[in-house]
Amino acid sequence: MKTIVAMPGDGIGKVVLPEAIRVLEATGFEANYVHGDIGWEFWCKEGNALPERTIKLLEEHKIGLFGAITSKPKDDAVRELDPKLQEKGYVYFSPIVGLRQHFNLDICIRPCKAFKGNPLNFIRKDGKGGFEEPLVNAVIFRQNTEGMYGGIEWTNPPKQVRDAFETHPKMNKFADIKSEDLAISTRIVSRQATERIFREAFEYAKKFGYKNVTVCEKPNVLRETSGMYLKIARQIAKDYPMIDLWDTNIDAQMMWLTKNPEDYAVLVAENMFGDIISDGFAGLVGGLGFACSANIGDKVAVFEPTHGSAPKYENLNPSIVNPIAMILSACMMLDHMGENDKAYRIRHAIAAVIEDGKVKTYDMMKIRGGAKAIDQGAATTQQMTDAIISKL
Ligand code: NAI
Ligand code: MG
Repeated sequence: MKTIVAMPGDGIGKVVLPEAIRVLEATGFEANYVHGDIGWEFWCKEGNALPERTIKLLEEHKIGLFGAITSKPKDDAVRELDPKLQEKGYVYFSPIVGLRQHFNLDICIRPCKAFKGNPLNFIRKDGKGGFEEPLVNAVIFRQNTEGMYGGIEWTNPPKQVRDAFETHPKMNKFADIKSEDLAISTRIVSRQATERIFREAFEYAKKFGYKNVTVCEKPNVLRETSGMYLKIARQIAKDYPMIDLWDTNIDAQMMWLTKNPEDYAVLVAENMFGDIISDGFAGLVGGLGFACSANIGDKVAVFEPTHGSAPKYENLNPSIVNPIAMILSACMMLDHMGENDKAYRIRHAIAAVIEDGKVKTYDMMKIRGGAKAIDQGAATTQQMTDAIISKL
């Protein structure tokens, strides 16, 4: 039997992760769940939000289901650290970024599929006095480890760095500026990682029957990095003659989100552009309560909702947050494990609950979150899960 490392983390991560496990169990999916410590609590107690023992568990079992973590500004991090650990050189870093780096989880997949009847779906005017509701079904492949978020950056760059940059003629215009008045962030991409993400994207399109793959970059300006993306996309596309390759510029793509989002299937982008475009698409299909994701590496994969720990709702009893993003993340885990039929059943059950329209969490009712939401007719987190289980 497979073992899954369950890492609820902080805040509503602790609320939604057990709900996803309830749904998994209701499908008859058999697995052991081992608990993995992660999050703010462990920063405060141990000076490490991602304890070594959690890394060991993932090394051993390879599959993680993750809720959400809380991270706070530098000053709070220092203040909340156990007094016994203070001034010993502990520095906070995000455990989810830590996981992605440690296991080289370089491929981030974010499906954004509209459920029919979701009151949060994007609608647009049809030009005849009415409205139309396109059924958005886009899957964003975001390179997760390189590019603009690779972390290679400086304020007041050291001399060797500055000298190296000055070999580029375009640095002339900064010649008179002191180094302490310069900040540099880099956008470095590698052929290997770029090939890997396109290969995965095309394979996904093939497996799930998507008709096109779009490179969403900016090669007319970012001639080197976006240029490499486009070139590699064209090479790999040759192996998939049934799938069309499109390319768009990230800025234009954001505009097309409100014009023809239903035309796009699989999209591939570098780290930052992928971050932007995936939030854009998620907004068309219900936002944070629906946005699921997978972080996939060579050996280890971690599945998580896109939302954070929503601390303002963590102590509400009953809980009001939407468990669907977490449950859909668990479906991605099932797909990854080859349990596609169970994933399919869960997605259908969610679709049926939404189409019925009787059980809605507060976000789906477009009302303010808080304890009063329940009196206004919002379903609790657990009621939403129960409704999904009853449709399985
Ligand atoms: P957030 O995603 O936690 O919450 C933003 C707002 O979205 C919430 O106040 C709530 O109104 C709504 N929301 C989030 N999840 C929802 C759900 N399942 N159902 C219904 N409504 C939902 O982002 P925020 O407030 O910016 O950050 C809170 C904490 O979470 C911070 O400490 C932040 O660092 C952390 N965070 C962690 C992430 C992760 O673990 N991957 C990602 C984003 C933020
Ligand atoms: Mg984001």
